[in-house]
Amino acid sequence: MLGRKVPAVTFRTRVRDEAVGGPNPFRWEDKTSDDYFAGKRVVLFSLPGAFTPTCSTYQLPDFEKLTADFRAEGIDDIYCISVNDAFVMNAWGKSQNLENVKLIPDGSGEFTRKMGMLVAKDNLGFGMRSWRYAAVIDDGTVEQWFEEEGYADNCESDPYGVSAPQNILAALQGARKAA
Ligand code: BEZ
Repeated sequence: MLGRKVPAVTFRTRVRDEAVGGPNPFRWEDKTSDDYFAGKRVVLFSLPGAFTPTCSTYQLPDFEKLTADFRAEGIDDIYCISVNDAFVMNAWGKSQNLENVKLIPDGSGEFTRKMGMLVAKDNLGFGMRSWRYAAVIDDGTVEQWFEEEGYADNCESDPYGVSAPQNILAALQGARKAA
């Protein structure tokens, strides 16, 4: 993946807009890969599902807490992507009181498939989801790649460590000190 451009896809997000009125003032807003990745150095992490235990208890909140440390290493934004629709991703973000990490809904799995990271999770009744990985992406090009071991359909375990924020931060800090 190193040196590859992220796939060009359109994400269907839901944004709050008071002009919509009523009890649920949200509207669709399409965002492209360029909207998220062009002209920025970001960390993207991808996980098997919103609201799942490891993602909700460790990975997402730890990225949220460590945002300032990532910024100090030259990271402009941190994105969490999952093969979940915009309604689910927004509800998850709200439940996590997110202020820093931005959620990307890859409801159709198109981005994840084109990244080569789509796996079956039918053993959990999930259907097609993302294998866990993370990447440092500079202006749309993959600069560093952190993929959990054992990529497989219907994996019985859920490896988590390589794509943990602490590991990515250590790599960024190490690279800076070595430079
Ligand atoms: C977890 O994050 O703990 C998890 C992810 C996928 C399936 C089950 C659990």
